[in-house]
Amino acid sequence: MKPQNYQRTLAFLKPDAVVRGLMGEIITRIERKALLITALKLVQLTREQAERLYEVHRNKPFFEKLVQHVTSGPILAMVIEGPNAVQTVRNLAGKTNPFEAAPGTIRGDYALDITKNIIHASDTPENAEREISILFQPEEIVEYAKPTEQKFSFSNNA
Ligand code: CMP
Repeated sequence: MKPQNYQRTLAFLKPDAVVRGLMGEIITRIERKALLITALKLVQLTREQAERLYEVHRNKPFFEKLVQHVTSGPILAMVIEGPNAVQTVRNLAGKTNPFEAAPGTIRGDYALDITKNIIHASDTPENAEREISILFQPEEIVEYAKPTEQKFSFSNNA
């Protein structure tokens, strides 16, 4: 049974992470935390998708630069599940500004630029659902459990 605080979230590795060859490293961190990746794909975002993803920032001075960056090359989009997944993934990512992100976090270890800050992670469960629907069809999200969370039944039948 899933715990009460079980959530799913949306994260994507920005084009800076993909072209720097950091996909494997970052996926490893997510897996090591025992979170479950239930969907994963490389996507070339359209301008329209990027604008929808970052809708809340539309009037911010950095909006255009951000949209340009995330459409400049492929992103690696993923749906991640687990207990308190929204905050847990944001903790792995570290603070938005890489100069404030602690060493040991993804941004703290790999980023020097607030636009090219390696990873985006949803900030609320509601935004996660909205962002997931922009990037994934429901059938692309796979339901499964890790062996450690499955109940095993043993049979004597040969
Ligand atoms: P992300 O987690 O993708 O969510 C919104 C993005 O906007 C953020 O990461 C940064 O890349 C960018 N951003 C947020 N604040 C600023 C800022 N003050 N100046 C430039 N870019 C910003």
